[in-house]
Amino acid sequence: MNQQDMSKRLAGRAAAELVQDGMRIGLGTGSTIFFTIERLVERMRTQGLRTACIPTSEQSRQLAEDGGIPILTFAQTTVLDLVIDGADEIDPQLNLIKGGGGALLREKLVALAGKRFIIVADNSKQVNTLGHFPLPVEIVPFGHEVTLRRLQDLGAAPELRMDGYAPYVTDNGNYIARCHFGRIEHPASLHDSLKRVSGVVETGLFVGMAEQAILSNGVDVWNVSGP
Ligand code: A5P
Repeated sequence: MNQQDMSKRLAGRAAAELVQDGMRIGLGTGSTIFFTIERLVERMRTQGLRTACIPTSEQSRQLAEDGGIPILTFAQTTVLDLVIDGADEIDPQLNLIKGGGGALLREKLVALAGKRFIIVADNSKQVNTLGHFPLPVEIVPFGHEVTLRRLQDLGAAPELRMDGYAPYVTDNGNYIARCHFGRIEHPASLHDSLKRVSGVVETGLFVGMAEQAILSNGVDVWNVSGP
């Protein structure tokens, strides 16, 4: 396992320790959350931990189901005790870019349902200013050419995420525009401007949502709290 994977493992597993018996949790998507799920399954087996989750992607649902974590739906609960998810970039205020795995819409809906929203990541995800990682924006397929032009007008230099020769399709049947804004100095106002574009479903900017990040460099694990 390389150092980045070791960092993801340590951070991901540390977050699983925050889950208390009986909690309803949200489970994010990605290679760090993989380790959170792995540790939760271990804790259910060895400690008798009881929990149930709403996953943010079909990929995470499969992992949770395979490990025996009961799956909930929003028809059963609209409030989650704790939501744990990864991130692509984390700034000092714990504003985030998410959605590198294409799951940003469900990730945001699940995060918003959480009483607590906690991020797990290797420390390479920490940045001073968001924007080096292209911002994923979920857009509806119909008229996506027009939506891409409107995003272009906002300075996004958008490219459609592809899956081979066809557009990548999210779990919700939408497309992803990868937007290259450069440094994002004002994430909240950029998010608002993007949301005003018809055809934009959601953006990968998670502003003022995370209360804590659990980070690791492969040796140590530490917490960063939001403002
Ligand atoms: C999924 O859409 C993303 O938001 C992931 O949470 C993010 O890409 C982090 O993924 P890794 O844990 O694989 O780095």
